[in-house]
Amino acid sequence: MSNQHSESVLIVDFGSQVTQLIARRVREAGVYSEIAPFSGAEEAFARMRPKGIILSGGPASVTDAQGPRIPDVILQSGLPMLGICYGQQALMQQLGGRVLEGDAGEFGRAFIDIAEECILFDGLWKRGEKHQVWMSHGDKVTQLADGFRPVASSAGAPFAVIADDARRIYAMQFHPEVVHTPDGAKLLKNFVRHVCGLSGDWTMAEFRKTKIDEIRAQVGDGKVICGLSGGVDSAVAAVLIHEAIGDQLTCVYVDHGLMRLGESEQVVSLFRGHYNIPLVHVDTSTLFLRGLEGVTDPEKKRKFIGKTFIDVFEGEAKTIGGADFLAQGTLYPDVIESVSFTGGPSVTIKSHHNVGGLPDRMNMQLVEPLRELFKDEVRELGRELGLPDVFVGRHPFPGPGLAIRIPGEVTRERCDVLRRADAIYLEEIRNAGLYDAIWQAFAVLLPVKTVGVMGDARTYDNVCALRAVTSTDGMTADIYPFDAAFLSQVATRIINEVKGINRVVYDYTSKPPGTIEWE
Ligand code: XMP
Repeated sequence: MSNQHSESVLIVDFGSQVTQLIARRVREAGVYSEIAPFSGAEEAFARMRPKGIILSGGPASVTDAQGPRIPDVILQSGLPMLGICYGQQALMQQLGGRVLEGDAGEFGRAFIDIAEECILFDGLWKRGEKHQVWMSHGDKVTQLADGFRPVASSAGAPFAVIADDARRIYAMQFHPEVVHTPDGAKLLKNFVRHVCGLSGDWTMAEFRKTKIDEIRAQVGDGKVICGLSGGVDSAVAAVLIHEAIGDQLTCVYVDHGLMRLGESEQVVSLFRGHYNIPLVHVDTSTLFLRGLEGVTDPEKKRKFIGKTFIDVFEGEAKTIGGADFLAQGTLYPDVIESVSFTGGPSVTIKSHHNVGGLPDRMNMQLVEPLRELFKDEVRELGRELGLPDVFVGRHPFPGPGLAIRIPGEVTRERCDVLRRADAIYLEEIRNAGLYDAIWQAFAVLLPVKTVGVMGDARTYDNVCALRAVTSTDGMTADIYPFDAAFLSQVATRIINEVKGINRVVYDYTSKPPGTIEWE
C-alpha cells in the first residue's frame, strides 16, 4: 500500500465489526486513513508515518491478560490519539487508570450529558446539553489515568468522554463511527481536523495524481493487461492506468454472453470510442453456453465459468504477445485483514480476485490502483476520470453473470427472456428515481411453469422473480420495500412485453438467511 499520503491517520483495529466505518468517516473529513490490525500496527505506523492515531473498539476485555494491547511505540509517540470503546479502555489500562469487567454494560442507544467544554465538541455540543450516542460495552473505565478529565457521562459510563488536552489524547466509551450516533462523524472530523490539525485536503483529484505517478514508477515501460468485467471497478482501474501509461495497456473483455441487455455494447463503445483504449473484445458466448448445456448445479456452473474465463483470457493474452503486469480492480474491503480473537493466530485475509489464479499461472505482477479505496470512492474516482454517471453508479454484477440468475439449465433463449425482463425492471426503477437507493436489483428466471390467462387464452409459461436489496458491502442485506403499486406496474409490463413469462413474484428474503444472488 502507498505511503505517499503526506497527512494520514492510522486506525488500530482491535476487532470491532464497525472499524471500517471509522476509516470512512475520517476520509469523508478529507483525511486519508488506513486500518491495521493491532498485531500489524507497529509496521503500519513505521510505514505510514501518520499524524494521528485512532484506536478501535473490539470484543476482547482489557481485564484479560491476553487482551490485545496498544503497541508501546504508538502509545509513546506523542501523537494525538482517540480511543473508542475498547480503545478507551486499553488507553486507561496502559496509562495507569482502571477498568472493571462490567456486569451490566450498555448496548444500543444511550444519552450522554455534556459536563465540560472539549475540543472534540467544537461547533457541536455545549455544556449542559444531552446527546444521543450508540453504546456497546460490557467493561467500563472506573478510574482515569493521570492527566485526564471527564467531559461527558452516561447512566452506565461515568467516563463516557475523557480528555487529556496536554497530551492530545481523547477517548470515548461510545461509537462515533455508526449512524446511531448522529453527531459522530462531526466528532471524528473535529479529532482529525482540530486535534490532529490536519488540513482535510485529501481529494480524489489528489489521489488520481498520486496514483498516476505510482503506476508509472511501478510499470516503467512494461506491458499491462487488464480484464474488463463490465463492472465499475475494472473499468475505473483501466481508465486510470491508461491515463498513466497510455497504450502500454491493453484491455481484454471476455464477453461470456451472460451480461445484461446492452452491457457489452456499452463497454465496447466506452473504451474504444470514448477513451480510445486498446481493447480486445472476444465474443465467446457459444463456448460458454455449450459448456453450460445440461449443467444445473450452481457450483458446477460457477466453476466452469471461472475456469473457462481464465482459459480464454490467457489465450488472448498470448495472442497479443503477453504482458508483464496484470491490472485488477481489487478494492480496500478485499484487502483489509480481518481481526479475530478465536481460533488460532488470528489474522485472516479476505481476498477477492476477478481473475484469480492468473497472475501465478502467467507469471505476472499485479497492478491494483484501487486497493486503498472503498466502493463509493471508486465511483467518485470514476466520475473524476470522466466515466459517465450511468456507468459509474451501476449496481454490482456477479462474475458468472446471468447464469446464476437462471436456476436450472442456462440456454441462450432463457438468457434472452431474462435480459428483457431485467431491463424492464431496471428501467422502471430508474424512472421511479429509486436506482441509487438500492444496492442491487435484478430479475431471476425460474425453471417453473405456471398456468395463466391472457386475453381469452390459457398460458403456460415461466415465473420471474424480482429481487432488490439494500446493503453497504454485500455481506448482509435487507429487502427493498417497494410499494405494491410499483411492483404491480413492473409485473404487468414484464408479463405484457416479455414472451415466455406469465407470472412475477417478489423475493422477500434478507441476507442472512438468504444470499443476494439465487445461486
Ligand atoms: P451473495 O449472493 O453471496 O452475493 O449474497 C454477495 C455479493 O457478491 C456478488 N457476487 C459475486 N461477485 N463474482 C463477483 O464478482 C462472483 O462470483 C459473485 N457471486 C456473487 C453479488 O452480486 C453480491 O453483490
